[in-house]
Amino acid sequence: MTDGYLWFEGLPFPSIDYSYEGLKEACTKFVIKDEDTVMVSYPKSGTHWLIEILCLIHSKGDTTWIRSVSIWDRAPWLEIDTGYKLLKEREGPRFLTSHLPFHLFPKSFFTSKAKVIYIMRNPKDVLVSGYYFWTTTKFSKKPESLDQYFQWFLQGHVPYGSWFEHIRGWMSMRDRENVLLLSYEELQKDPRSTIEKICQFLGKKLNPEELDSVLKNSSFHVMKENKMSNLETLPETRVDKDFKITRKGISGDWKNHLTVAQAEALDKLYQEKMAGFPKELFPWE
Ligand code: A3P
Repeated sequence: MTDGYLWFEGLPFPSIDYSYEGLKEACTKFVIKDEDTVMVSYPKSGTHWLIEILCLIHSKGDTTWIRSVSIWDRAPWLEIDTGYKLLKEREGPRFLTSHLPFHLFPKSFFTSKAKVIYIMRNPKDVLVSGYYFWTTTKFSKKPESLDQYFQWFLQGHVPYGSWFEHIRGWMSMRDRENVLLLSYEELQKDPRSTIEKICQFLGKKLNPEELDSVLKNSSFHVMKENKMSNLETLPETRVDKDFKITRKGISGDWKNHLTVAQAEALDKLYQEKMAGFPKELFPWE
């Protein structure tokens, strides 16, 4: 670590709770099993929301698990040292979480039947959410201003690298039967139908009461009060006082933060980087 990041394969990673050896082992040696379910995203795309939904689907709406076990234990992070250790020791079907870009993801996935759900979000909201996250936590280099973070984001000089490369890489998997592409925006707009879509993908059948419970208990306000899910139990060596992952939980917060010039610069880069992808794949304007 030289500049507040841990560099691995040319990409910046958070420097706390990650190690070069851990990343190398996770990326090259980890064996994904057929019965695993993997949640993948670029940071700040609604990962914790998705984990909460999957855990609730798994328990058929029963809240015992989500209220008694911390979210990072229920669906450990593959590339974080403690998460990797938990996963290696875990028997039976596992939930895994990862922010790894496609090209670094363990190759064992490609020959497995494991299910992957990739959640994405409007990059402008990802940027704003990321600014607050890295400013109020101690995992990585702290931006001094939103303007500075904006520049870093455009250059891909943020944890896990470029949003554009992340999306482009994982998009190449979108036609595979065992990959489901979701967006934060569709979850916001129609959570019930999106949860039903997830159930169908996972081959899970819930009755209407169970579905109601998944919907209610994964909602922003309920999740914000669940200390096993909102990360408020993280120590002050990791996060600022009163930190919660559930910050604002809306789509379009970028309009309250980015200047017209910043939004235009991001749009321009978006057009260049995402040329060739059908616009209908993405629910944002
Ligand atoms: P904001 O910072 O815009 O509020 P991740 O889990 O990938 O780090 O993403 C965090 C973002 O998801 C945060 O966005 C957070 O508020 C939002 N989020 C977390 N739980 C949510 C929920 N139940 N409903 C809606 N948004 C949620």
